[in-house]
Amino acid sequence: MSTNKVRFEATESKIVIVGGDFERGRSLFFSDQLKCSTCHRIRSEGGAIGPDLSNLVSRDAASVLRDIKDPNASINPDYVAYNVSLNDGNELTGFIRAQDNASIQLIGVDGKETQFRPTEVKEMRVSSVSLMPTGLVDGLKDEQMRDLLTFLLNEPPKRSAAEVEAALSAGENRKSKIENRKLEIVLVASKQDHGPGQHDYPAWQESWLRLLTSAATNVVAVPAWEWPDQEQSKTADVIVLYYWNHDWTAERYRQMDEFLARGGGLVLFHSATIADKDPEQLAERIGLASQPQRTKYLHAPFDLKFVAPTNHPIIRGLLRQIHFLDELYWPMIGDPGRVEVLATASIDGEDRPMIWTFQKGKGRVFASIVGHYTWTHDDPLFRVIALRGLAWAAGEPVGRFEGLVLAGAHSQ
Ligand code: HEC
Repeated sequence: MSTNKVRFEATESKIVIVGGDFERGRSLFFSDQLKCSTCHRIRSEGGAIGPDLSNLVSRDAASVLRDIKDPNASINPDYVAYNVSLNDGNELTGFIRAQDNASIQLIGVDGKETQFRPTEVKEMRVSSVSLMPTGLVDGLKDEQMRDLLTFLLNEPPKRSAAEVEAALSAGENRKSKIENRKLEIVLVASKQDHGPGQHDYPAWQESWLRLLTSAATNVVAVPAWEWPDQEQSKTADVIVLYYWNHDWTAERYRQMDEFLARGGGLVLFHSATIADKDPEQLAERIGLASQPQRTKYLHAPFDLKFVAPTNHPIIRGLLRQIHFLDELYWPMIGDPGRVEVLATASIDGEDRPMIWTFQKGKGRVFASIVGHYTWTHDDPLFRVIALRGLAWAAGEPVGRFEGLVLAGAHSQ
């Protein structure tokens, strides 16, 4: 049954990594247990003894897995090791870094450099053994290997100028005559509660303050720390929350109710949808909420699928599916039937809501689970969605802030 065998191998060689966590993979890569980062650099972090691994994103999982499990199977030609015997009896192993008539420079895996003259060499042989140790990942569980590969094989997406332009020039958003009602927008943050580049609320607050006040937007953007003050919640047109509020008190809910009842707009990013206790109370006001004990999370690459009609003002001109590397929360608490889901992601075998709008009386709520990483907030396509969501929550034409999409954004 040779055909069966071929088919089996064909599926074997095409490994698809699902369910791995990018952040857990990053921790493994930089751990003392594996030491990958002592030899390798990836996306500008780590050591420089072995090859830079930033290009693994363009390779297939099976070959990367083989390189890790069996470093001797194929050795990177730029990193072939030499065994050198010197006349004085010294034996050295390492890569040749520089070589001329007067001297040879060898670097060992410990990073130690040795310099000697060609005349001192008794014998120099190419080693058939990789300087990368074997068995490094032998002690890892399958899930950990999946996490490590998720980290190695994925990077934040880069957007082409054409992709961003297509979204921006879609429909009437840009052409419409945008009325310039004066808006007061309160940006609420707290101290950062994750590693660098994650949940960086202060950096986000600073960047959005600059963004919204820079151009002639006729916006008064003001910061608030952990909760808007009484005056702000009385006068603001929109309140934007990007932080983990550990203190959803009855008084805060009361202020939120008043704010929404008078037609205020509320925008929530990522951890702002978490309530440590009684998430139903928060879901009652914003549509869907999460809670650490009941909601799962995963830092992973995923396709955000736009499920609202293509002419929906917030998602107009966007492709139906856009790739992201961010953190997903699921399942959300609350009745998905009460919200208008704009985008979902498939996780645990189901399409789960990731971005939605919700109306409570005159109040408008726009919420996005996507938004864990600073790179997402700087992503021009995410900015399109977020800034349209902001304008929508303010009851303004959604194109009002589109001029801000590219300011300081990371496009390619
Ligand atoms: C002691 C230094 C050292 C450590 C520790 C180490 N490597 Fe390596 N690695 C190397 C060297 C040197 C090469 C190049 C030689 C080769 O291809 O085998 C290499 C090659 C690789 C390659 C192939 C890349 C290419 O461009 O050819 C991958 C993938 C890789 N390492 C991943 C890892 C991972 C993941 C870890 C941690 C589990 C790790 N390495 C730990 C030194 C190291």
